[in-house]
Amino acid sequence: MPLLQVKNMTHYFGGLRAVSNFDLEIEAGQIRGLIGPNGAGKTTIFNLLTGIHKPTEGAITLDGENVVGLRPHLIASRGLGRTFQNICLWRHMTVLEHVKMACYAKLTYGLTGAFFGTAKRHREEAQIETKALGLLKMLGIEHFAGDNVLNLSYGAQRRVEMARALATEPKVLLLDEPTAGMNPEELSQMMAIIRQVHQEFGLAIFLIEHRLRVVMELCEKIQTLVFGEVISEGGPEEIQNDPKVIDAYLGKEAVE
Ligand SMILES: Nc1ncnc2c1ncn2[C@@H]1O[C@H](COP(=O)(O)OP(=O)(O)O)[C@@H](O)[C@H]1O
Ligand SMILES: [Mg+2]
Repeated sequence: MPLLQVKNMTHYFGGLRAVSNFDLEIEAGQIRGLIGPNGAGKTTIFNLLTGIHKPTEGAITLDGENVVGLRPHLIASRGLGRTFQNICLWRHMTVLEHVKMACYAKLTYGLTGAFFGTAKRHREEAQIETKALGLLKMLGIEHFAGDNVLNLSYGAQRRVEMARALATEPKVLLLDEPTAGMNPEELSQMMAIIRQVHQEFGLAIFLIEHRLRVVMELCEKIQTLVFGEVISEGGPEEIQNDPKVIDAYLGKEAVE
């Protein structure tokens, strides 16, 4: 049984068929990629998997259990973590606060503890601080812990998002164009981070990318989406040489 399985998923926005009969199987520890031109339906697929939209048709199971119809926070707590295509951080929170807030999703103390400050609560608070700082360190942003996120560079903000997603201890991590808008130096740093996160946490990763080079280097299997339909699926070599893929990208980005 695959860790994440999607069968025959279709989604309409009004009359627009944004995703058609999408199938996916991700095994534990696998890195898969999804590429395709702008407007192909890639982000919509992430929004369907994470409960932001409910698919018009189709089945999604995580660890063998249905997640269709569950609220996004419940799907996240079942083990599906994500980052967003457009950076989605809170203006008035520090870097550490962002990651700690995501850690609270895993908290076990009840309301009584929250009101009366039990020993268990203090212990858990301390553990959360340690865990959050550990994630910041792993992503090389621990020196920004007390800074407001708005003061960070774009590349560093992307890492805060990644730390926040990891704080929920996902089994599958969905990354929506994690290198979008990055300069070459930030790009290679982010690729190294993705590799490191994959190795250290043994996570499955599902990666949306616009740059072919990134998916080619990171992913075992890649799907190409055009107008909501998968037109090609295979390993990096197959995808790179598939005329349908080259066509979809009009050749120009294939070499990027
Ligand atoms: N919330 C929405 N309501 C209506 N249409 C949407 C919505 N989200 C995306 N779309 C449309 O669905 C199509 C796929 O968009 P998207 O999934 O963002 O593509 P991609 O991420 O591949 O660039 C586009 O035509 C887009 O305009
Ligand atoms: Mg998108």
